[in-house]
Amino acid sequence: MCGIVGYIGSEDTKEILLKGLEKLEYRGYDSAGIAVRNEEGVHIFKEKGRIADLRAVVDENVKSNAGIGHTRWATHGVPSRYNAHPHQNVTNRYTLVHNGVIENDEQLKREYLLDVPLQSDTDTEVIVQLIGLFSKDGLTTEEAFRKTLTLLKGSYALALLDKEDEKTIYVAKNKSPLLVGLGEDCNVVASDAMAMLQVTNQFVELMDKEMVLVTENSVTIKNENGETIERAPYTAELDAGDIEKGTYPHYMLKETDEQPFVIRKIMQAYQNDQGELAVDADIVNAVTEADRLYIVACGTSYHAGLVGKQYLEQMANIPVEVHVASEFVYNMPLLSKKPLFIFISQSGETADSRAVLVKVKELGYQALTITNVPGSTLSREADFTLLLHAGPEIAVASTKAYTAQIAVLSILADAAAKKGGIDTGFDLVHELGIVANAMEVLCDGKEEFEQIARDYLSTTRNCFFIGRSVDYYVGLEGALKLKEISYIQAEGFAGGELKHGTIALIEDGTPVIALATQESVNLNIRGNVKEVAARGANTCVISMKGLEQEGDRFVLPAVHELLAPLAAVVPFQLIAYYAALHRDCDVDKPRNLAKSVTVE
Ligand code: F6R
Repeated sequence: MCGIVGYIGSEDTKEILLKGLEKLEYRGYDSAGIAVRNEEGVHIFKEKGRIADLRAVVDENVKSNAGIGHTRWATHGVPSRYNAHPHQNVTNRYTLVHNGVIENDEQLKREYLLDVPLQSDTDTEVIVQLIGLFSKDGLTTEEAFRKTLTLLKGSYALALLDKEDEKTIYVAKNKSPLLVGLGEDCNVVASDAMAMLQVTNQFVELMDKEMVLVTENSVTIKNENGETIERAPYTAELDAGDIEKGTYPHYMLKETDEQPFVIRKIMQAYQNDQGELAVDADIVNAVTEADRLYIVACGTSYHAGLVGKQYLEQMANIPVEVHVASEFVYNMPLLSKKPLFIFISQSGETADSRAVLVKVKELGYQALTITNVPGSTLSREADFTLLLHAGPEIAVASTKAYTAQIAVLSILADAAAKKGGIDTGFDLVHELGIVANAMEVLCDGKEEFEQIARDYLSTTRNCFFIGRSVDYYVGLEGALKLKEISYIQAEGFAGGELKHGTIALIEDGTPVIALATQESVNLNIRGNVKEVAARGANTCVISMKGLEQEGDRFVLPAVHELLAPLAAVVPFQLIAYYAALHRDCDVDKPRNLAKSVTVE
């Protein structure tokens, strides 16, 4: 969470930093700030709110060729101007932006900073005050920075300006993502390559505990011991167009619409020369040789994992457990003899998932990461990676990454089934093609979902999603989408579980959205719909062609039952989108959230 940028070069810095921060706003958007340095000193502009609010307070007349910026998701201290980054030490010599969480900040304050009047409630200020303090002992900035880093416990991506050194931005990283970009007559720093595509597509990955000295013409990476490290840049395979909204009012709508294209792109990416879907042999071996798979993920990715469990068990006959990452370390299950861990993470940076990966590696087990971001921390640290090929997902509410995760899991299950000599009874290439077409039909018929949102959700305080089997899992995702962007209290329930308690919440007019795409449970879920309707619920049944009944509000085009979640989630995404719009919510940047959750 939080996004940081830095620029040093021949251009005026302000606009580059602001544009960069706009691209990083998905990482946090409660306050923002930039610091730019020129011969007069360091000028800081910060504001509570969005980058647009920050823009309004930036003095156009201040010119500069070096600067750093930050967009914040508050962890220490309320969102406010005084807690917004950048922060300075008492003498104002050093100016710092930080993404991450310092866990021992209170201890450091007690040990070193009792006499220093702190100006914010942040853990970040502790870092910059320590650098200032140590530099007074005659250390160079690099030495004072390094000494400070050795004291920090926690995660950080840092960019530091020194008023007395016009040539350098000092950078360091531990656990939080950070890249250095190589431009022409300039170099840049960013939490995510997207932010600096305006300047360059050549980036250098940084490893934990590294420090980098970035000047206009050079990038010097040093390890913990101060030894210089050579590392070649890579080309960020991102198109500037991929990260623009284009004619869409919101990224979420654009990303929902992209789903059929993403499914086709995944099929292309995983097709071998014979036109069959295939996965790297080492990965298939790791999956089939494991006696149990442990899927670990958070939020939407966890919901995709639940669907993936069905695939791996039903298609490939491999036992699977699915775990919420943030609970795993405390409630560690008794592991099987030969487990394989599968981490599902759009960003590849989620701290809760990473904490499990670190633990799993300590225990000596193998891990596979399924992610949208090549080179992300979870990808680098796992033994194997499968890419989602979904393209950048910018709306905070995940849409195309969820369907991409499910599609990739289906391909993995299919490959594992083939390796195990199991006939799944269907041709996945053909069936995913049908899914992509069905998604297209659904995206083309948005008015229907706008109307459902209007009819069921415009004034309600709550809403229930019910389903059985995989429909239950899709309901969990539908409920998450609705609550996170429209703030309606929404919950997903297994249809059969309702009468064990939840049905007490049903009142006259309570919206209950039921999904019926599975033949084996169609009659049962219909029974649950009748039960809630009899108690006054305003029921909305979404079924699949072939299983429809009179009175169903919407019938999905027919797809293979196992792949039904891919199609069935599209109405849920669009219903949530329109419900949020009708309620004037900020669809792409819902309150209190950030896209990349890099704190535990
Ligand atoms: C909800 C959403 C989140 C993420 C979760 C995990 O729409 O996007 O629930 O799925 O924060 O993020 P990743 O997949 O990046 O690990």
